[in-house]
Amino acid sequence: MIHIKNHLAAWIALAVLLAVPPVSAVADNVVPPVSASNDSKDNPKWVKGVGDPFAGKQKSLICQGCHGVDGHSTDEMIPKLAGQYEGYIAKQMRNYQAGTRTHEYMNGMASPLSDQDLDDISAYFSNQTRMKGKPSALNKRGQELFLKGNIAKGVMICVYCHGGAGKGLESDIAMYPVIGGQNKAYLIKTLKDFRQDERFNSPSIIMNKIVRSLSDADIEALSDYMSSL
Ligand code: HEC
Ligand code: HEC
Repeated sequence: MIHIKNHLAAWIALAVLLAVPPVSAVADNVVPPVSASNDSKDNPKWVKGVGDPFAGKQKSLICQGCHGVDGHSTDEMIPKLAGQYEGYIAKQMRNYQAGTRTHEYMNGMASPLSDQDLDDISAYFSNQTRMKGKPSALNKRGQELFLKGNIAKGVMICVYCHGGAGKGLESDIAMYPVIGGQNKAYLIKTLKDFRQDERFNSPSIIMNKIVRSLSDADIEALSDYMSSL
């Protein structure tokens, strides 16, 4: 039953995305290549997607220097990559290469990588034990926004696209990243980047629109909640 609901939510989300008119030159409508999906929330299997996770292990050592062992980053400002969707990681890397996402380190890190390297590294990280948050006191305000949004203010319900525990949708839709269990300071930063249009690489700038009317306190509460999942 849950599964059917998830699929329904995925289709609703997709319909919403497709219904949003394409916006200006900053819109990035490239849908990432869909890879074989992980069908377990916390323990992704070693699946063969677009890339080769075994080859990716060696190639990802430099990345692990910042993103933590196997992508379990303990630096609050550096996102965890462990158990993130392969298609999402690869898309971000291609966005850094193309300059449609910018960061002082990451554009330089991405630019020398071949398509094959990038797919292999993405496959490696996506097959690690999925990121998990530190248990903390329940942030009720954050939970409320996450589960119910604020329709009057145009804040869409996060769960529709990111899944109940923020682990994405357990189907082959790799475009919705895992956000549950991600580092809090990174979540705050990237949500503010979306709000200020400093990050504009989501399809049809959907994330920018969703967070537009969130206050700093809303973002703090949401990030606190998501990072605990
Ligand atoms: C010098 C440190 C450093 C190194 C080395 C590094 N990264 Fe990053 N990476 C970062 C930081 C910091 C961010 C957060 C960017 C932001 O705030 O938008 C990031 C962001 C990312 C993201 C976006 C994650 C998301 O959730 O959207 C991906 C994917 C990524 N890095 C992959 C890699 C890969 C693959 C490598 C190796 C080829 C690598 N990184 C090497 C520091 C690093
Ligand atoms: C209609 C679908 C949809 C809804 C609803 C949605 N998101 Fe997203 N979100 C996306 C997509 C697609 C991306 C990936 C953007 C990209 O490719 O760079 C994303 C990316 C993100 C990221 C960046 C993750 C990372 O690792 O950098 C965060 C954080 C996020 N969303 C939080 C939220 C929150 C909080 C809500 C609810 C207030 C929400 N999203 C609602 C579709 C959605």
